[in-house]
Amino acid sequence: MITFGTLVQMSDQWWRNAVIYQVYIRSFADANGDGTGDINGIRSKLPYLAELGVNGLWVNPWYASPLNDGGYDVADYRDIEPSYGTLDDAKAMIAEAHELGLKVLVDLVPNHTSNEHEWFQQAIAAPIGDPSRDRYHIRPGRGIDGSEPPTDWIAVFGGSAWEQLDDGEWYLHLFDTSQPDLNWTNTEVQEEFQDIFRFWCELGADGFRVDVAHGLAKDMSFPDAGEAAELLSNAKTPNHPYWDRDDVHEYIRQWRAVLDEYGDRMMVAEAWVAPDRAPMYIRPDEYHQTFAFDFLDSNWDRDEMRARVAKVIETTASVDSVPTWTLSNHDVVRHATRYGLPKGTPWRKWLLDGPHDQLDAELGLRRARAAVLLMLALPGGVYLYQGEELGLPEVYDLPLDILDDPVWRLSGNTSKGRDGCRVPIPWAASGPSLGFGANDGWLPQPEFFSEFSMEAQQGDPRSILELYRSALSFRTDQLTSDPEITWDPAASPEVLSFERPGGLQCWVNFGPGPVELPEGATVVLASDPDFSGQMATDTAVWFWA
Ligand code: NOJ
Repeated sequence: MITFGTLVQMSDQWWRNAVIYQVYIRSFADANGDGTGDINGIRSKLPYLAELGVNGLWVNPWYASPLNDGGYDVADYRDIEPSYGTLDDAKAMIAEAHELGLKVLVDLVPNHTSNEHEWFQQAIAAPIGDPSRDRYHIRPGRGIDGSEPPTDWIAVFGGSAWEQLDDGEWYLHLFDTSQPDLNWTNTEVQEEFQDIFRFWCELGADGFRVDVAHGLAKDMSFPDAGEAAELLSNAKTPNHPYWDRDDVHEYIRQWRAVLDEYGDRMMVAEAWVAPDRAPMYIRPDEYHQTFAFDFLDSNWDRDEMRARVAKVIETTASVDSVPTWTLSNHDVVRHATRYGLPKGTPWRKWLLDGPHDQLDAELGLRRARAAVLLMLALPGGVYLYQGEELGLPEVYDLPLDILDDPVWRLSGNTSKGRDGCRVPIPWAASGPSLGFGANDGWLPQPEFFSEFSMEAQQGDPRSILELYRSALSFRTDQLTSDPEITWDPAASPEVLSFERPGGLQCWVNFGPGPVELPEGATVVLASDPDFSGQMATDTAVWFWA
């Protein structure tokens, strides 16, 4: 029996099964030829997104910003970065997206502002003890003359998390030195963000991706942490001095109350926390979704993936919610590259240290094709990262002297950072910046990007782009929104397999040899363009049993 899904038509619960496309605005499409992507560039590609078959887009921060951390350093939450456009452009983009049936999520950054934000400027101009300084964590140092930082906390990007001001006090920045952390116990800070949520809801935003959702609350007794923070890894210790503290949920509830005033708006948490803590973030009066980052840091290993996926499904169900999957984003090595490296390769380190000839790019792409079928058949929502539908790999060999990510500088040039997954999108097979804009983009594209371009793939049934289109269209029309899942119909230790209500089965062959499908299987879609009855290794198939 085939159950037809309802998916995005689920009115105020539209997000539960939605597929959202992440637009890293700087690198998506450049309408004015200045080398940087912009809002008008996004507008020009909205028909492409609608045709791809996604249900909405999440735009990385587009606010006024000195762009020291790709816009996650916000100088004004109610204005647009001039190199990206204007508020009117944003309004027009949201309206046009809505006409095409696409939802729009904006990226909210509540853990820190830019040091160019007027609040921080006021704070550092004010005398010690002035209330304007209480909006941030500005404190005296340790040692007889206060010349030691207040704690041993390490910034995620490297180095001490404290920077000394001219007046001798220190401010906290868990990320770049230009990103001072806000003091969330300050009611002015709390009220300001409720207002910022309202501002964007009024402008038409359907939802919010919330940055560093497991941050915000700090242990106000400022103990030493005794350990280094790792770049965006799981903050596995609950109630760590600055990660995943119980008090953060109070602020989340404040925002949820604001969103509930508008009915169908949603928010998704970027919370790198231990699996058992994740459900707390999606309790009924908190976030609607929280990213499951399990595919980002899992090996290409059947048992590991099965165990992690099953755990996410189980824990989200415990709070009557569904998982939110993603294979890549703007902070990690693209999965077409991760999956082409030997098992266990520390991929961040590999970017700089190599050996780069360990990479099997063809294998990575084959697995990327299988991975998207696996992900899209699971219950819950999905976020795609721009360019993954083109099978783009990481550009691991960007010249060191053009790296822009603060990670490169703050790590003392020991970590290459995230620029390699942020290279401008190749829309055309030839021409300036391969159709990204009229001139060179802010990061150079390698020559081979031409073969991966949208133009080169569109209409080719063997391309990964057409695989994405077919999978998304099938998912919308025919995959049930019922989150039930039945594991292991294949009963093979080498095949990850499950069945969804209505009878669709998804099998992924992790083993070394070919796998036969059950008698009578009606194949819907195969990740292998040469599929002819047997599943080759590292491929996936959807079929009706
Ligand atoms: C997480 C974002 O995804 C990342 O790009 C950013 O650098 C940090 N948060 C700090 O805002």
